[in-house]
Amino acid sequence: MTPLSLDATQYPASHGLLRSLMLMAWMVEARDPYTGGHLWRVARMAEELGRSMGLPDKEIRRIALAGFLHDIGKIGVPDAVLRKPGKLDDDEYAVIQAHPDIGRRILAEHPLAHLVMDVVFHHHETPDGRGYPLGLANTDIPLDARLVGICDAFDAMTSTRPYRKGMPIAKALDIISNAAGTQFDAELGRQFVALGHAGAFDHIVGHTDEGIPLGVCISCGPVIQRYRHTQAGEHADCPACNARYEWQQTGSGLHAAHIGKTHGSQGMPLPDTSLLHTLLEEWSPLQA
Ligand SMILES: [Fe+2]
Repeated sequence: MTPLSLDATQYPASHGLLRSLMLMAWMVEARDPYTGGHLWRVARMAEELGRSMGLPDKEIRRIALAGFLHDIGKIGVPDAVLRKPGKLDDDEYAVIQAHPDIGRRILAEHPLAHLVMDVVFHHHETPDGRGYPLGLANTDIPLDARLVGICDAFDAMTSTRPYRKGMPIAKALDIISNAAGTQFDAELGRQFVALGHAGAFDHIVGHTDEGIPLGVCISCGPVIQRYRHTQAGEHADCPACNARYEWQQTGSGLHAAHIGKTHGSQGMPLPDTSLLHTLLEEWSPLQA
């Protein structure tokens, strides 16, 4: 059965702030149909990159949490832009470019905002100064935002959207390699590419949790979110079209079988409680 809430009794009250921050991040997943699992993937890749750069454990955890929160401002982007199935025009692009500032303003009063604020506000800045919102350059961009910015871009390139297929890992790594020093931090970019070629992201790309690949919608591609606690017989809706699926057991694991059309919001992506439990355990030292 799908657990519908985090069991608050399992955690000391002091973890409540962190839990509220993570649930805020989940609101973006529920609103944006094209990025199932994006937050987990960015958090995991940021962790891999931070570790390989030799950052201290506590800092790696903090950056992973910030990776999970980075797009929180998308809560304030209208559906017509956020859910547009295709390329944005200039006006729409200007609207979506407001999301780091929306995120900054939403988070400002949260007691743990300091852990994630630089990433939320600066993850679209680029070393050549052509990013947004401030057009900061090079090391004026906080390190954590430069790091998450690479993971974010890589995940966007390798993720399938209903209107385009995700690109192969090697091609996305080439793009990062070519833009290291301009769009991406030179040293972090090189390190990220080396990690990618060594296979460090193979278990992350196309997944929503450790060992859990996205389900494939027959018309939209791999966009259907599955949880660790999902069992055969449970239903899921494609977040991008009105197709309904049933998880069926096959030799290689659960497979999304198309069974018809959705009826309302039943299959909407609820907070992935088993994933949130795990992440909360991992990141709880940040509250100390
Ligand atoms: Fe973003």
